[in-house]
Amino acid sequence: MNSIALFEGKRIILGVCGSIAAYKAVDLASKLTQAGALVDTVMTEAAQRFVTPLSFQAVTGRPVYSDMWRADADGGLPNHIAHIGLAEAADLLLVCPATANTLAKLAHGLADDLLSVTALAVDCPLALAPAMDGAMYESPALQGNLEILLGRGAQLIEPEAGRFASGLVGTGRLPETSVLIGRLRRIIGADGELAGHKLVVTAGGTREALDPVRFISNRSTGKQGYAIAQAAIDAGAEVVLISATGYLAPPVGATMVAVDSAQSMLEAVLENISDSSALVMAAAVADYRPQAVSEQKIKKSQADLSLPLVRAPDILMAVKAQRGQTGYPMIVVGFAAESENLVENARGKLQGKGLDLLVANDITAADAGFAADTNRVVVLDMDGGMQAIDLRSKADIGAYIVERIGGLLN
Ligand code: CTP
Repeated sequence: MNSIALFEGKRIILGVCGSIAAYKAVDLASKLTQAGALVDTVMTEAAQRFVTPLSFQAVTGRPVYSDMWRADADGGLPNHIAHIGLAEAADLLLVCPATANTLAKLAHGLADDLLSVTALAVDCPLALAPAMDGAMYESPALQGNLEILLGRGAQLIEPEAGRFASGLVGTGRLPETSVLIGRLRRIIGADGELAGHKLVVTAGGTREALDPVRFISNRSTGKQGYAIAQAAIDAGAEVVLISATGYLAPPVGATMVAVDSAQSMLEAVLENISDSSALVMAAAVADYRPQAVSEQKIKKSQADLSLPLVRAPDILMAVKAQRGQTGYPMIVVGFAAESENLVENARGKLQGKGLDLLVANDITAADAGFAADTNRVVVLDMDGGMQAIDLRSKADIGAYIVERIGGLLN
């Protein structure tokens, strides 16, 4: 797992309770640590029956707190006092897995172990990831306690439906680590620079059908667009991701709109921008489509086949027209894929399409542009400014673009 800017240096108290899902918390602690967070684990007595403190210590490289009365590893303060220091410095208290017993304690302010004492002491956001048998999760007592906690501002990471260790099926399973991380990104980023803003992002190469089997498309994979959507979620935005590709895992928390052709992407964009702060057109949209789509599969009955192509709609030009009337989106960011005269062509697109920012890619480099995990871009703005961004991960470029949008909006 790569480092994630949002988690870099964040102090997360991971409260682990006694559920079979406690083993998954070890993986989460490991991934959060790799992402750059400082994870301090507090285990209940029951949690230690499922996994050992050593597992968490090994993956986080930090001491694990469990016994309220014992002195810490350096022989200093007993844990029931040391935890106050922990609580003061925390950015988030995540209880994962959260059992019915601990949720009841937190709801009613009981303080009989280190985790419940710590929960009373913190003033950072509280996130709860319950994991238990379906019937327990549905029980009125548990739901009542959850309601109390959510009413007080706690964030719920909903359990998923599936099969339990007991063999029963229901809702109560702890989500996979990638989903937990995605949910945490939204929780930690909630007050970010784009909080209260809606961003519409397009991604992937559109597909123009020839017949029921074939289509014309391009080499775009959608990676840069998905990275921008994730960066916008990390910055607290509400994100609509209009995607022409189904191969990538959707960023957790994005509203996904699946499209295929330039026409369907155009309709989805126009429908979603009317109340949006910004549109980022990272998609590689077809310029031409077949004049007609054959209802039946085209057979190889002729020696040569010519297909007349007609122009596909230019989405950014349609956005320019709509924005002229409504004023939305407030900011429009376009991309330019160029194989020659990068800056000159890009400047022409910035002006012609009425953009606030334009991100230009040189698609001839192997380590940048289509399909690569890295990118190298030049960002042009409407004031004549130009910023060259040397080779970086698409995640970093996404964060940079989101930062520029934030700068224009605020
Ligand atoms: N774009 C669009 N509608 C199209 C084609 C492109 O909205 N039918 C958008 C892209 O999403 C991108 C920008 O316009 O943000 C520039 O796309 P690009 O393919 O570089 O340029 P084109 O306008 O298609 O011009 P050309 O292919 O001739 O370079």
